[in-house]
Amino acid sequence: MKYKVAPSLLAADFSCINEEISKVEKAGADLLHLDVMDGVFVNNISFGIPVIKTIRKCTKLPFDVHLMIIDPIKYIDQFVDAGADSISFHYEACSNHEEVIDRIKSHGKKACLAISPETSAEVARKFKDKLDMLLIMTVRPGFGGQKLIESTLENIKIAKDISRETGYRIPVQVDGGINRETLHLVTEAGAEIIVVGNAIFSSDNPKEVIDYLKEGK
Ligand code: DX5
Ligand code: ZN
Repeated sequence: MKYKVAPSLLAADFSCINEEISKVEKAGADLLHLDVMDGVFVNNISFGIPVIKTIRKCTKLPFDVHLMIIDPIKYIDQFVDAGADSISFHYEACSNHEEVIDRIKSHGKKACLAISPETSAEVARKFKDKLDMLLIMTVRPGFGGQKLIESTLENIKIAKDISRETGYRIPVQVDGGINRETLHLVTEAGAEIIVVGNAIFSSDNPKEVIDYLKEGK
């Protein structure tokens, strides 16, 4: 297996969320990606702390929480308490980046900086010694089911270069518009952890999709 796959629960059927989670767990998911949106940082509202706390009981998969919220420092402790194993916050959503990273790590959790398409991933370089992962958005954050923006491939390459400077300690995660057709673009640019919503949850055979994503072909 070359790549790790993180199904994004945003694309799941919430009327039977327990089965949806078991389905991807059995199909070989490595992480469960949880998209939290506040209606302010992005024009959409998804789910938050109580939902994450509830579904924590449904699975042993690590919870990879992607915060699309302003002022993330206010909520880090609560997301950790709800069961987050890694927390991504957006560079564009705050100005106290180091403080947020330190707060996440003070709980022994993985700190990840997320970069929107309009931001150069170069902004992450100065935090490289503290970060545990870099998340490059390949669509504008806020909605699942969008088309991958090819200009973001440059950010994946920059993130990989930053990772190289750390001896490849920091994996590069990518998120948005990834499917069989676009997978090779992100893997060739250097992605290692692949977030996928619709292509997994809308498939009749999620295992086949996850296997395919893991092999990178
Ligand atoms: C977008 C989210 C993504 C999204 C991915 O703001 O961060 O995780 O749900 O979904 P697909 O794979 O459908 O683009
Ligand atoms: Zn996401």
